[in-house]
Amino acid sequence: QRSSEAWLRELAASGFSFPRVRARRLRIHPGVRSLVAETRLDPSMFILPLFVEDGLKSPKPLRGLPGHYKYPPESRELVELVSRALDLGVRNFLIFGTPGMRNFEGSEAWSPRGPVQRAIRFIRGEMGWKPVVMADVCLCGYTDHGHCGYPRETPRGVLIENDRSIEAYGRVSVSLAEAGADFVAPSGMMDGQVAAIRRALDEAGYTEVGIMSYSAKYASGFYGPFRDVMDSSPRFGDRRSYQMDPRNRFEAVKEVLLDAVEGADIVMVKPALSYLDVISEVKRSIPWLPLAAYNVSGEYLMLKAAAEKGLVDYETLMLEVLTSIARAGADAVITYHALEAAEALKSSKTPF
Ligand code: PBG
Repeated sequence: QRSSEAWLRELAASGFSFPRVRARRLRIHPGVRSLVAETRLDPSMFILPLFVEDGLKSPKPLRGLPGHYKYPPESRELVELVSRALDLGVRNFLIFGTPGMRNFEGSEAWSPRGPVQRAIRFIRGEMGWKPVVMADVCLCGYTDHGHCGYPRETPRGVLIENDRSIEAYGRVSVSLAEAGADFVAPSGMMDGQVAAIRRALDEAGYTEVGIMSYSAKYASGFYGPFRDVMDSSPRFGDRRSYQMDPRNRFEAVKEVLLDAVEGADIVMVKPALSYLDVISEVKRSIPWLPLAAYNVSGEYLMLKAAAEKGLVDYETLMLEVLTSIARAGADAVITYHALEAAEALKSSKTPF
């Protein structure tokens, strides 16, 4: 291993230095800058999150996600949004649902009449298989306790039971596949969730339905606006006994490897912006595994709030953030900016 100092001395001696070499030559013409750009953003790499709620009469604006709405599961507006996205080149969607009724088990999560199941059936009926429909698999929005699995009293306090929870994820996944989901996306961070879901899907005959796993999902404060939208904060305790510790980078590689062995088709790092090192580590460790990154609600709101102050250029920030996530190594980005970014990339508003 040569020291960078030795490198520099050698390069300078060979003539690779100023004035023969001028790095700025590649930065003069915007066309040349694009020609040699190492990272390219394309709307086809975005996944747009969608929210549906049982019993809604009309779309409801979300205060934590300005510009986004909750939709009635079988609404014209929802289909129009998907169709607008398709026109802009955004072809992948991730649906979250709020049920009309919550209980300990979160049984609405696997009901054929659940909000997400109905929304998927409606989208399929109206637009066929053109959009890629992914569905979040979790219990936190469906249970009265707000945890992603089943809490149980133990001598050491309340713990979230792992193995009963992943059984439920299997049931949820099969009901989403029945409704017409292309991919299911387990976000509960229970051990063995991918294996349990793969087994359940295969036994039900849904071998073609894929799994995008939230493999390295951190216990993060950046989920605040999302939990407000979904009313899915845990009613007691927190999620630190299942979501990852923000202090860990290499553990993400372990989580991703476990999921890959269990049969995940796409793995994910979440959040994205404060975890670019994790994205990079995972991509370099297992480059052949498709990697998604979730540019979460708090990250989105941060930019919106900064823009509201009038001191930053929103479009520049948005494209810079998305570019950083791609540059770090993400193949796909789940982002609330998807439509705005697709629009900006189409117009000449891009700073690049
Ligand atoms: C549910 C889930 C969460 C998010 C996606 N799925 C929140 C959480 O773990 O509390 C967060 C998404 C976002 O903040 O945009 N397990």
